[in-house]
Amino acid sequence: MVRSSAKYISHYALLWLLLFLLGLENALPKPEEVQTYIVQVDYTQRPEASSTDQAWYEDILESINSNPVVVEKILVYSYSHVMHGFRARLTVSQLSQLERHPIHLATFQESFAFNKGFLAAGGRIGHKDFNSTRDFDGHGTHTSSTAAGNHVPGISHFGYARGTAKGVAPRARIAMYKVGWATDTGADIAASDILAAMDQAIMDGVDVMSLSIGLGQAPYFDDPIAIASLSAVERGIFVTCAAGNYAFPSTTENGAPWITTVGASTIDRSFVGKLKLGNGFSLEGTSYFPQSVLVSDVLLYYGKGNVTKAMCQKLDSKEVSGTVVFCDNNNSSDILGQIIEVQGAGASVGIFVTEMPDLEPFLYSFPSLILKNGSGTKVKNYTTGASKATVKSMRVPSDIILSEYNAGGRIEAWIGRVLII
Ligand SMILES: *[C@@H]1O[C@H](CO)[C@@H](O)[C@H](O)[C@H]1NC(C)=O
Ligand SMILES: *[C@@H]1O[C@H](CO)[C@@H](O)[C@H](O)[C@H]1NC(C)=O
Ligand SMILES: *[C@@H]1O[C@H](CO)[C@@H](O)[C@H](O)[C@H]1NC(C)=O
Ligand SMILES: *[C@@H]1O[C@H](CO)[C@@H](O)[C@H](O)[C@H]1NC(C)=O
Ligand SMILES: *[C@@H]1O[C@H](CO)[C@@H](O)[C@H](O)[C@H]1NC(C)=O
Ligand SMILES: *[C@@H]1O[C@H](CO)[C@@H](O)[C@H](O)[C@H]1NC(C)=O
Repeated sequence: MVRSSAKYISHYALLWLLLFLLGLENALPKPEEVQTYIVQVDYTQRPEASSTDQAWYEDILESINSNPVVVEKILVYSYSHVMHGFRARLTVSQLSQLERHPIHLATFQESFAFNKGFLAAGGRIGHKDFNSTRDFDGHGTHTSSTAAGNHVPGISHFGYARGTAKGVAPRARIAMYKVGWATDTGADIAASDILAAMDQAIMDGVDVMSLSIGLGQAPYFDDPIAIASLSAVERGIFVTCAAGNYAFPSTTENGAPWITTVGASTIDRSFVGKLKLGNGFSLEGTSYFPQSVLVSDVLLYYGKGNVTKAMCQKLDSKEVSGTVVFCDNNNSSDILGQIIEVQGAGASVGIFVTEMPDLEPFLYSFPSLILKNGSGTKVKNYTTGASKATVKSMRVPSDIILSEYNAGGRIEAWIGRVLII
């Protein structure tokens, strides 16, 4: 069954079910069962005598295989560029022999794609997805790196907020199970595919399941994720799920008490822009613009008396060119549409008003200041009253403020069994 109420959690429009392994022992399949593994080898140990990489990998597999005739069948791919290694179908004892071999560097669990339920319900994979485990829009990569991303030193947001990025458990092993699919009109997920993925993960012996997906609010007995999580928890697997994308009351999903339900967190930095109006009023807002821009004594434009202009849906470049343009809150998340209009009309800086909590940094490709309704009303009031409104000075962004950990007003964790991150 395709659940149209399925939601993509954490911004991006594709659903992934992500599970990660903390130890390989538990991940081994039952004896006799054959599974596909990606094995990375130490290339410095390649003997000169091997004519090709593939011939060398075949020799390695032959040395651990009691029946040499099967080697061609078990070697699925040989890799020479992305890494040195191969993908092979192995039994548990073959894998453990291989892992004791001096050439062995690492074993990666194969990723799985689950789309039978989606396809059976009439789902069609759209042009913005791959019909495979490969991640198209980055949601799976984003959630995996949040869980177990390696240390990446020297990162910054165009020079601001420098630091080291890393996941929660950088040394964990990851197995990803793709269950969400983009269609041409959006994206969808079948509850049956989630169940198949969780079933496979239990079989694979994962220690932790992390699901950044939600099927909406439903009684636990009617919620496939709650039911499957209970089975996983009973087997000693730690299950953590996303609480949702909305920081509003009564919007929590995946709230079953055996699930550790984690709410959206934030970073310990604020991106601040400062504005001083011609009447001396000072205001602060948010600005993600990657370069610091300073303007002083510039005309402030507001399309008062014309809703289309006030909301920056259609501006006249003769009126706004070179000015700082103030756009009214159009009560939608579509600041991007306003930014494009303001930029296209030749303004130098834009001031936008929204109460939306999740501003997308990549939207702000134009020097801009984002205000809440309250500050927006002050600017509007000033422009309405003044015959020639001006911006005395404005710097975006002015500062990156390293804030103290602040749980009040920022949701770090939802109640379930609470995980403080
Ligand atoms: C996608 O892959 C599945 C097998 O995983 C196949 O049954 C299906 O026909 C493929 N193509 C599309 C467009 O869904
Ligand atoms: C309001 O602005 C729009 C777009 O610039 C324009 O087409 C429209 O005529 C204006 N309306 C009035 C009443 O001036
Ligand atoms: C908000 O902006 C969008 C895009 O410009 C427009 O389609 C929509 O009608 C606007 N909403 C309001 C309330 O004006
Ligand atoms: C703003 O949007 C919300 C929901 O999208 C709606 O309930 C509300 O009536 C809107 N307000 C105005 C002034 O358009
Ligand atoms: C902010 O302003 C918009 C547009 O006037 C309005 O629809 C919305 O309800 C306001 N939100 C808050 C929290 O004041
Ligand atoms: C609006 O502006 C007038 C002066 O033009 C001022 O007296 C009034 O206090 C202002 N109101 C707000 C809410 O800022």
